Amino acid sequence: MRLSKRLDKLPPYLFVEINRKIAEKKARGEDIISFAIGDPDMPTPSNVIDELCRAARDPANHRYPETAGLPELRQAVAGWYHRRFGVSLDPEKEVLPLIGSKDGVAHISFCFIDPGDIALVPDPGYPVYSMSTLLAGGEPYFLPLTEKNDFLPELEIIPRNTVKKAKLLWLNYPNNPTGAVADIDFFQKAVHFAMENNLAICHDAPYTEVTFDGYQPPSLMQLPDARDVGIEFHSLSKTYDMTGWRIGMAVGNAKMIDALFRFKSNLDSGIPQAIQQAAIEALTGSQDGVKERSVIYQRRRDKLVKALNDIGLKARMPKASFYVWARIPDGYTSVNFTSELLDKANVAVTPGTGYGAAGEGFVRLSLTVPDERLDEGITRLLKWSESRTN
Ligand SMILES: Cc1ncc(COP(=O)(O)O)c(C=O)c1O
Repeated sequence: MRLSKRLDKLPPYLFVEINRKIAEKKARGEDIISFAIGDPDMPTPSNVIDELCRAARDPANHRYPETAGLPELRQAVAGWYHRRFGVSLDPEKEVLPLIGSKDGVAHISFCFIDPGDIALVPDPGYPVYSMSTLLAGGEPYFLPLTEKNDFLPELEIIPRNTVKKAKLLWLNYPNNPTGAVADIDFFQKAVHFAMENNLAICHDAPYTEVTFDGYQPPSLMQLPDARDVGIEFHSLSKTYDMTGWRIGMAVGNAKMIDALFRFKSNLDSGIPQAIQQAAIEALTGSQDGVKERSVIYQRRRDKLVKALNDIGLKARMPKASFYVWARIPDGYTSVNFTSELLDKANVAVTPGTGYGAAGEGFVRLSLTVPDERLDEGITRLLKWSESRTN
């Protein structure tokens, strides 16, 4: 049997490695508190679960779905964008439901990238941007996100030759893993850059609804000319605690939406219809839970950021997303600092380098840890820090 060379390009998926180490410790009976994975710990709202149960009993939902999704779902997405961002979308041409936003994020690369093409990818960044570029035969060109540039890519310093070969520009705000945010002026700059250089923008925005201190992240689509050059990925995963349900959406440029639809219609058979009905309920029903949940994350954020700074990590206070990006003490690499916390404190975090070379010197902690476990995790970190200084 001979596997494709394409697969050789892929390093092991970061979380597989971390999970393996954690599983080994758990098998030895050790209790690990994990801040490593961004997966909401709170349940999906009950109105959404009730709608799934109802929809599951309807035989009309037992048959093959359409890749394009139910028209009612596309309308619900358009309605949500209008209420949330004041953006009007054509539900037929500018909205495509996805099997989680990862589905679209991974597959859009195949609609743009041919061998030798470049995608401009943030570093650190969600690994799927670069992996899908590699799988499509292209090359990621990494745009460092640093404290100095407020974790916003410096588009003007990308070499001319690279820009010429580039077809896609990836953006992600609120950002995973740094928790950074971008304002509409930055998006405007990116849209002009894309227009001048014949690039398409993919803005990955699954964290716009996890926000703190009254902050409201903008949508790229609020810019009238964004629709000429880009699409935005969104997801019900983080907004409605539905990571396991696998449903998200792409919105924006009709040509890009159609390309993604054509590609996907040859690969998958859409989202199970009962899940689509439940998603309609999530998008159109009461939104109270969204705000309540952000209040819980904010409380956790305040506690965790304070504790990390107390023990000598320089943790940023994120305005949105459920990630805390923390600079580690001198003398460690991200990976050996992560190992030390796992070995000595039974606390799992994610090394910054798991998201790219520019993540060196940082670790990421997720706020998706139940309150009492978060408190216990903080106690362990404080004890570990005391043992280091004694
Ligand atoms: C930046 C970013 N984009 C996309 C995804 C994928 O989300 P989903 O496929 O659940 O919608 C994630 C998940 O962690 C993410 O962090």
